[in-house]
Amino acid sequence: MIVNTELENKGNLFPSKIIDFKKDVDTLYFSTDNDVILQLTVVRDSLLRFRYTTVGNFDNDFSYAITQYASIGYNKLEIEEKKDCYEVLTSKLRCEISKEDMRVSIYDAKDGTLINQDEGGFHWEESYEHGGNIVKMSKLSNDGESYYGLGDKPNHLNLKGKRFSNWATDSYAYGKDSDPIYKAIPFYTGLHHGKAYGIFFDNTFKSSFDFAHERRNVTSFWAQGGEMNYYFFYGPKMNDVVESYTDLTGKPHHLPPMWALGFHQCKWSYYPESKVKEITATFRKLKIPCDAIYLDIDYMEGFRCFTWNKEYFPDPKRMVKELLADGFKTVAIIDPGIKIDKDYAVFKEGLEKDYFCKRADGAYMKGKVWPGECYFPDFTNPEVRDWWSGLFQELIEDIGVKGVWNDMNEPAVMEVPNKTFPDDVRHDYDGNPCSHRKAHNVYGMQMARATYQGLKKYSYPKRPFVITRSAYSGTQRYTSTWTGDNVATWEHLWIANIQAQRMAMSGFSFAGSDIGGFAEQPQGELFTRWVQLGVFHPFFRVHSSGDHGDQEPWAFDEDVTDIVRKFIEIRYQLLPYLYTAFWNYVDHGTPLLKSLVLYDQDDVHTHYRTDEFVFGEQILACPVLEPNAKGRRMYVPKGNWYNFWTDEIVKGGKEMWVDADIDSMPIFVKEGAIIPKYPIQQYVGEKEIKEITLDVYYKKGKEKSELFSDANDGFDYTKGRFSLRTFNLTGRSNKLIINQHKEGKFITTYVTFKIQIHGLPFEIGEIQLDNETISLKHLKTNGTYSFIVDKNFSQLNIIGK
Ligand code: GLC
Repeated sequence: MIVNTELENKGNLFPSKIIDFKKDVDTLYFSTDNDVILQLTVVRDSLLRFRYTTVGNFDNDFSYAITQYASIGYNKLEIEEKKDCYEVLTSKLRCEISKEDMRVSIYDAKDGTLINQDEGGFHWEESYEHGGNIVKMSKLSNDGESYYGLGDKPNHLNLKGKRFSNWATDSYAYGKDSDPIYKAIPFYTGLHHGKAYGIFFDNTFKSSFDFAHERRNVTSFWAQGGEMNYYFFYGPKMNDVVESYTDLTGKPHHLPPMWALGFHQCKWSYYPESKVKEITATFRKLKIPCDAIYLDIDYMEGFRCFTWNKEYFPDPKRMVKELLADGFKTVAIIDPGIKIDKDYAVFKEGLEKDYFCKRADGAYMKGKVWPGECYFPDFTNPEVRDWWSGLFQELIEDIGVKGVWNDMNEPAVMEVPNKTFPDDVRHDYDGNPCSHRKAHNVYGMQMARATYQGLKKYSYPKRPFVITRSAYSGTQRYTSTWTGDNVATWEHLWIANIQAQRMAMSGFSFAGSDIGGFAEQPQGELFTRWVQLGVFHPFFRVHSSGDHGDQEPWAFDEDVTDIVRKFIEIRYQLLPYLYTAFWNYVDHGTPLLKSLVLYDQDDVHTHYRTDEFVFGEQILACPVLEPNAKGRRMYVPKGNWYNFWTDEIVKGGKEMWVDADIDSMPIFVKEGAIIPKYPIQQYVGEKEIKEITLDVYYKKGKEKSELFSDANDGFDYTKGRFSLRTFNLTGRSNKLIINQHKEGKFITTYVTFKIQIHGLPFEIGEIQLDNETISLKHLKTNGTYSFIVDKNFSQLNIIGK
């Protein structure tokens, strides 16, 4: 293993003195006399790109991670040559590049704080075996500095003191310290002295990160090939770092259809048709809301993608239609391995068109997966992606499947020690031919992208829905994701909570776990606690291997069914709130889940918290992670919060005990929040929504809330057909004022709001709606006040007696 931070720098080469400097618009080139060039691009005032070559010129600049829609442009770029360094100045950052050794130091331009500094800086080791270099970077790490991010690592949220690598790996029944697992997201946020910055190492080779593990004062990252090519983001707010990274690597191309935010039921596998129908009918009979039902690999004929087992599913089109009539969207799995079978159309076509991956010496890349021996499409070839997207026509357009689940795309290969392709496999890499060493980490991403293209085409005018297991940075543009084959243990509930938060702070919010655990069998209690957590995960799906019994909400005892129903109903009530948060994610890159450190980085107590998180902007949730618990201790962040169940107000900034028996869970609402809620539906669109409830949580002071609505599907919202309502709440001791600001052309189905006021400290004497007094005749009180108003009000005044 490469030990980047080794004290003894054996084999390491370093840049020598800078002898030349050139500027080309937004890009600066610094050259040394040993042929190193640092190319520094000012992408934005708070975003710098550092790219190094050791041979005097750069390779073609190509990245799968960076989106063409990234915002670029700066207000200021000045460069000054000083005695010992060059100084690059933007309106946010001052960056010094030492003439002596090319080391970089980055400062806050306003207050001069040192944010990040090279230790060894860029260095490299030549790779005799593969050619090119093993590229390395080491930075100083300070006492009290914390690190977050890196995608799906099943480890403590704060990465300090640990080392990780990024190499997408099929990891059945992984554990707390397993590394690497399915995803490769080489992005982290550092936090020091209250200021956050981010580093995205856009290198797809196997990369590693050492966060002050080997040496207490050094954080480093390196890769087995390719370029030292990283982006530096400055906050100083962590939320801005995450948004900025998400902007660069891409926000989701559009909102998911609202049904995809409902509850999904999955298992390996539901078949035949009668079993599928029995499951969906039981949901309806027991009145447990559910929007999606999954078909795992057994729906296919011998696991051949794009085929159906006609014995189990004699008429898929009819079945899918019937399921849809009952509100169930069908999601089907599609894996990358194509069975070697000369009578199988997809195989024949792939072979004829030369679309399968080949080994270095020309043989096909042959590997075993579910169907037996397979060949694998080279999804890094744009022509192959086009072909692949076309294969979805029948499944989507004709049969009516609404979502596709891409699995095994690390890519996974069975019965081989390294679980994947050998390194020598060749890839097109969009016209930059390379070996699997470089393409491995993007293989799954490119498969999901091709799948997304197919769904987009054939689902139109509806929105596509894709889910993937493997991902590289930027995959969030196309698809949702889940955290792979976890296990039905309490420790895995802890892991699931961490992973969803970590994915959100890694730009990929649309994520969730296999609720209840994929491997092994949960007790009813564990299943219940896991569903409770899942309510607050953007992707909300129960899945299990099926080897160890059933995992539907009714597979345990009746109490479990009732509690699970109650929690899934909460999810369905919160859909407009979640949808609004999702819109913020799609529009600004705002993470859907905020770990406490992301929520309030100034409070140092948050830096090592793992369990509590904010869902959207205003709801605080904390799962119960132990058996037999009647509640738990948790840290409530600063500010005043309403207990969701009791309306009791608690003052945060401290750890406290919160009661939460099995039918409950610690949930708090930020004071001043206005939470929009739907009536309970069995699936999205079951009812025409005529009224939205606004739960108003009184605050002395001001708070802003939003409600985004549109057609819940389709693309009209991108043409202005949306409705964005901003509620500005102002609370005084004897008055509560809500101002509404409206934007967008969409006419919502709801016509009224049911206002429910929590925690009002005075008795209502008068209500004025746009300056007209409304009668108190219909005012209901039982702890909360409630009344109905027209959705288009501008100002609501609630005045005390
Ligand atoms: C993999 C997936 C799992 C799926 C199974 C069969 O293990 O991670 O979700 O059920 O394959 O397709």
